[in-house]
Amino acid sequence: MVQIAPSILSADFSKLREEIIALEHAGADLIHIDVMDGHFVPNLTFGPQIVKSVRECTKLPLDVHLMVDNPDDMLEWFAYAGADIITVHTETCAHLDKTIEQIHSLGAKAGVSLNPATSEKVLEYVLNKLDLVLVMSVNPGFGGQAFQSEQLKKINMLKEMRKALPYLIEVDGGINPMTASECTAAGADILVAGTSVFSGGDYKNNIQALR
Ligand code: DX5
Ligand code: ZN
Repeated sequence: MVQIAPSILSADFSKLREEIIALEHAGADLIHIDVMDGHFVPNLTFGPQIVKSVRECTKLPLDVHLMVDNPDDMLEWFAYAGADIITVHTETCAHLDKTIEQIHSLGAKAGVSLNPATSEKVLEYVLNKLDLVLVMSVNPGFGGQAFQSEQLKKINMLKEMRKALPYLIEVDGGINPMTASECTAAGADILVAGTSVFSGGDYKNNIQALR
């Protein structure tokens, strides 16, 4: 069964607590939090204080996606704020193996994300240490972009490479009911969705439609 991780990037920030509670009631499996630093990506979003506030609103796992340069400097902040999964971008890590080790030593699950132009092959030597691989199906920075279908091949490759390893495959960007079924057919375990959960209609129906 595929898991749905709504991205609160598309939530109404003026009523974040209600939004989180509504997502929980609507059947979300995780809460996806997009941390952007205005350097690695051209947008600026949440810091650890917001993650801590979200932590106080829900028992759902917090899936923190760090789109930041020098993530090593911030891992402690987000772990102490209550992140269950911390995902870094391989493009930002000079010593990826060490970063993964550091996330685990803080008691969180470790994920690594790949930009659309980054090959899954860069993960070959760390795959056995990962809890999650996050395939970006848009260039990170903003919600509401179109799904890049070339990424289906990457999802499939990661499924092939997994064999008996335990990592989950998550896909982020442009997920709607149609692209969701393509992703799960290719091997995705978790789908991140912003626009298609939050824009219009009822969150429960929207999440159900993705499932
Ligand atoms: C993009 C973010 C995504 C974004 C997805 O940089 O990482 O999590 O919120 O938004 P949609 O579902 O609108 O593409
Ligand atoms: Zn994300």
